[in-house]
Amino acid sequence: MTQEQWTAVDAYVTELISPDDEALSAAVASSEAAGLPQIAVAPPQGKMLHLLAKMQGARQVLEIGTLGGYSTIWLARALPENGRLISLEYSEAHAEVARANLARAGLDKVAEVRVGAALDSLPKLAAEPGAGPFDLFFIDADKVNNPRYVEWALKLSRPGSVIIVDNAVRGGKMLDAADSDPAVVGTREMYELVGREPRLDATVVQTVGERGWDGFLLARVID
Ligand code: SAH
Ligand code: DHB
Ligand code: MG
Repeated sequence: MTQEQWTAVDAYVTELISPDDEALSAAVASSEAAGLPQIAVAPPQGKMLHLLAKMQGARQVLEIGTLGGYSTIWLARALPENGRLISLEYSEAHAEVARANLARAGLDKVAEVRVGAALDSLPKLAAEPGAGPFDLFFIDADKVNNPRYVEWALKLSRPGSVIIVDNAVRGGKMLDAADSDPAVVGTREMYELVGREPRLDATVVQTVGERGWDGFLLARVID
């Protein structure tokens, strides 16, 4: 199979099963127009996040890495009326695009974007009364900090919380122990941490599609 075929299958699945509606299409278009990198989850994965949040009955969701808010929209749409999503984003410019996209999708009451390095925002969030426990976490920011983000997710979780980490495969780069790319080092550390963490039940699902060969880690905090 080639990249071209993987992309074509993503397009087929998207068209027949789960086409992006106006708000999602507008989020993609405005992100592109603003010059954001095109690294949002692909539509079938966006829908997967939505379904997982629904299956989980999630009411409180924490996302790390907002970009233009594409995955944020999918997740926020899974929440009940009294639900709440907080998304942490380093770049003010990305956050501005995301806020406009969330407002256009009618989700600005449910979803909040907080600007700053997530490792600065997380302790502040943890200190707020009523913040968390979160029912679902979507970790999709700088990969070097993934071990820290998983630790924070655990701190802000409850038994049964779901943790999803995007880009956990990236062409299998983590197999090379000599690769000193910080993203790869962070990914390897994340696997080691999850593997030895008795509070987490986890797996990794490999994916192919318009974003190449990648995958996500899916974990559940044990009861
Ligand atoms: N979840 C988005 C894609 C996120 S891309 C989607 O699927 O639609 C990764 C995002 O993480 C980028 O916007 C980047 O600016 C942000 N980021 C990078 N380092 C960060 C950090 N230290 N803290 C918070 N966000 C960070
Ligand atoms: C990159 C980041 C992502 O979150 C992603 O899904 C794909 C690529 C990146 O930083 O290159
Ligand atoms: Mg990603």
